[in-house]
Amino acid sequence: MVNYKVTVFNGSPINAQTTNDVFIKLVGTDGESELNKLNTPISFTSTQVAWPVSIGKLIQIKLVKKKPIVFAAVDWFPAKVEVESPDGETYNFPIYRWITDSVEQSFREGTALRAFEDSHSIGRDSREQELNQREKDYCWDVYAEGIPHIMKAKDLDSLPPEVRFSCTKSKQFNFTATAAMKELNLKGIADSKDNWTDINDVNRVFSNKDTKISKYVEEHWKEDAFFGYQYLNGVNPILIRRCTALPENFPVTDEMLFPDCQSSLAAEMKNGNIFLLDYKRFDELKANIFHGKQQYLMAPLVLLQKTPDDKLMPIAIQLKQTPAEDNPIFLPTDSEYDWLMAKIFVRSADSSEHELNVHLLRTHLLAEAFAVSLLRNVPMVHPLYKLLVPHTRYTLQINFLARNLLISPSGFFNKYAASGGEALSTILQRSMSSITYKSLCMPEDIAERGMEDVPNYYYRDDGLKLWDIIQRFVEGVLGFYYKSDEQVQHDLELQKWFSDIFEHGFLSQETTGIPQRLSSVAELVKFVTMVLFTCSAQHSAVNDGQFDYGGWMPNTPFSLQLPPPTTKGTTSEATMLNTLPDIGTSAQGMAALWLLSKPPFDFVPLGQFPEEHFSEEFPCQLIKDFQRELEMLSAEIISRNIGLDIPYTYMDPALMENSVAI
Ligand code: FE2
Repeated sequence: MVNYKVTVFNGSPINAQTTNDVFIKLVGTDGESELNKLNTPISFTSTQVAWPVSIGKLIQIKLVKKKPIVFAAVDWFPAKVEVESPDGETYNFPIYRWITDSVEQSFREGTALRAFEDSHSIGRDSREQELNQREKDYCWDVYAEGIPHIMKAKDLDSLPPEVRFSCTKSKQFNFTATAAMKELNLKGIADSKDNWTDINDVNRVFSNKDTKISKYVEEHWKEDAFFGYQYLNGVNPILIRRCTALPENFPVTDEMLFPDCQSSLAAEMKNGNIFLLDYKRFDELKANIFHGKQQYLMAPLVLLQKTPDDKLMPIAIQLKQTPAEDNPIFLPTDSEYDWLMAKIFVRSADSSEHELNVHLLRTHLLAEAFAVSLLRNVPMVHPLYKLLVPHTRYTLQINFLARNLLISPSGFFNKYAASGGEALSTILQRSMSSITYKSLCMPEDIAERGMEDVPNYYYRDDGLKLWDIIQRFVEGVLGFYYKSDEQVQHDLELQKWFSDIFEHGFLSQETTGIPQRLSSVAELVKFVTMVLFTCSAQHSAVNDGQFDYGGWMPNTPFSLQLPPPTTKGTTSEATMLNTLPDIGTSAQGMAALWLLSKPPFDFVPLGQFPEEHFSEEFPCQLIKDFQRELEMLSAEIISRNIGLDIPYTYMDPALMENSVAI
């Protein structure tokens, strides 16, 4: 008899074990064993599988879970199976799937193989069967015209079990949402239509939910230097760009800015000291109406100037795109409330720009297209699957929830944001049509916005280092498997993954600058780096600070219920209080940001791969190198932050998730 030692490891979910009977069949190049019953897997278990003759080099295993007649079926989440052959060779079979029924399921040996390397017919058949099934499990759907396509799912239960939240994550998500709403209901403010009468009352919405940064924001939100700082290191650090020529529709003059002729706009622009924020995609939008009231969303233009002490100060704000007498250019020399109101309208526009374009579209929806394409087109045994699947964790479920809770007709935006209603789809479509490949690749984005040498831009400093680390890792892994450009060109599974993303993620828009086909290893490395960076670093940068910067509502009002002043000298504190969202709307916004910023219990940081998909020594070594580099960057960021008034932590690899999971 030939004896194989089979060890089954259960996965990490608390309910991963099954009490049902489990059977295994070994399949090799020279035949296959019969189904052998395994000892019921507890945390891990070893069993001998004996067979009269050798079955050769192992290619796959087949697993079957059967419930005993009188007992209930209990789902099972095996992590991996190790098989030791009599000649001392160890085969590793990664699984990381829920097995919920009694249908026989096949899993490939862990050595990464592309289709043209899969020389045995058993391997090729298994590949085909797996992809046929995946095409049925992961289907594209159109949620709205002009935005990336989504995973087809009529409800949460129709998502395949392996992409759903863990029990722990579901419980925590529901608990956090319920706890925040309970607090608002207890205080009787969840639906209050009253206006604020004292701005300091905003911090009574929540007890004990402040963060160090949200407290800082409460104290500094009115300050010009903090207003400017947020465009470098707040939740939307990608709008600001260096201004070398004033937009024609923003007629700021030297007399406005330099009444004593101490400098000129031309000279300041020449010295690289002028920066622009342009919210032009909000021009001519029909803002939302809720609580029976028209809401207001502006399309501002803002100039900022870098001062000799390296602060970024707003120096001119025009709230609508078309210059007109009733669209004044506000200046820091205007009355306190004229200038503050102008800044509040900018911050309100930024909350919509941030949530809909920067956060939802450019990270969540793209990450979903990356995930669906991978799960649908690339088999588990492919190196690209092994590399990218950790970066798809929970994305399909969080996006399903985001669509239902945030942007559906009954969602948050329609109920509480000026950018809800008719405006929402227009903003998403306009954002989508302006997306470019360059803007998704951080080094090119920074260069294109002229932001290479702006001081105190920690998003850029940490992000560029992270981009390099990710690129080195991706280059190492893919370079190990792809030795020539021809191998990239002829890998049909890889090409289908890419073309599906181009078609369903980027809607075949050639204006994005994304090539229609991957033609070289270098192109592949760049694209995969962008995917991995978007799903981890970029999402963290635009997600994790939401409560820090929005927990003090006046800094990030989702809606404003009065129009902006059309002449100078008409505003007061009362104007501000009556313009800010009512108490209920404010509280709902703060609750949503609280939920979206809370780190989950089963957080997996960037570079940690509890699921071991790679078996070969070289990629496993690259993972260790990747982790070491991430640790070093994390230590560097921690040390840098010690000297800062506001620590910048959103690009700290130790604090960011591998995937878009919240
Ligand atoms: Fe998010």
